[in-house]
Amino acid sequence: MPLNSASQDSQTLPRVTVHFAITLDGKVSTPNHTPAQFTSANDKKRLLEVRSENDAVMVAKGTLQTDRMSLGLPDQMLRNERLRRGASEEPLRVIVSATGDIGLDLPIFQNPGAPIVLYTTTRMLSWKRAELESKVAIYEAGKDQVDLLYVLSHLFSRYQVRAVVCEGGPTLVRSLAKVDLIDRIALTIAAKLFGGRSAPSLTGLPGDFLPASRHFQLVNHEIGDNEFYLTYEHEVCTRRTLL
Ligand SMILES: NC(=O)c1ccc[n+]([C@@H]2O[C@H](COP(=O)([O-])OP(=O)(O)OC[C@H]3O[C@@H](n4cnc5c(N)ncnc54)[C@H](OP(=O)(O)O)[C@@H]3O)[C@@H](O)[C@H]2O)c1
Repeated sequence: MPLNSASQDSQTLPRVTVHFAITLDGKVSTPNHTPAQFTSANDKKRLLEVRSENDAVMVAKGTLQTDRMSLGLPDQMLRNERLRRGASEEPLRVIVSATGDIGLDLPIFQNPGAPIVLYTTTRMLSWKRAELESKVAIYEAGKDQVDLLYVLSHLFSRYQVRAVVCEGGPTLVRSLAKVDLIDRIALTIAAKLFGGRSAPSLTGLPGDFLPASRHFQLVNHEIGDNEFYLTYEHEVCTRRTLL
């Protein structure tokens, strides 16, 4: 039974949108895992628009490091729009890393912006915690892997997050899909082929099947700049009132 739909009270978890760009052959990255910059300027604008519609933006360590993201809203108009509707100027920035082994030199820690929250495990070394603590609120959410159900319910109750967008990476998306916590998928299909056995798809490199297939409904499609923009909602999610 899906955790985020039927068995779990939807009022206690934020809505989770996964926002990704993929190629025609379903790749989200080049074989060398180089930064995901294969879409148009229009797509990058849309990414920020979707980010601004959410209370929090979440990424895992791999993407944070590879894409050197700050997870902010550089566009002042988007920030003003948030303030007008009574939201914080920028969404809360959320990082997921079981080891917590994250370099303090990354742009996210160097640029001003919304508060940063890190969900990690008991595996995080104490010296690393001490190093990051002045920049980040750190929470232990598991022993080996980060418990994403805990993360979402903590974001809901502690930070009043009602909608979160996950911008990567595929390992984190796979973890969310495994426990059926994805409500919505926003996909940009780029008119490119990458090939590559070691280039990940939306759920990472080929591996085990998910415990069950997850079903989505196409609810919106747009064409622009030689790209397709698709929005899917979890089939159960479409039958309930979204937050
Ligand atoms: N096309 C797109 O839209 C798009 C979007 C995002 C990323 N990407 C690409 O994807 C590639 C990165 O892929 P990736 O799979 O390596 O990145 P990832 O999912 O961002 O990072 C993987 C790491 O995140 C942590 N992590 C993920 N799920 C976790 C969980 N449930 N519990 C605890 N820790 C968890 C682990 O860090 P620890 O080792 O510290 O435990 C893991 O090693 C890059 O090339 C990036 O450009 C593409």
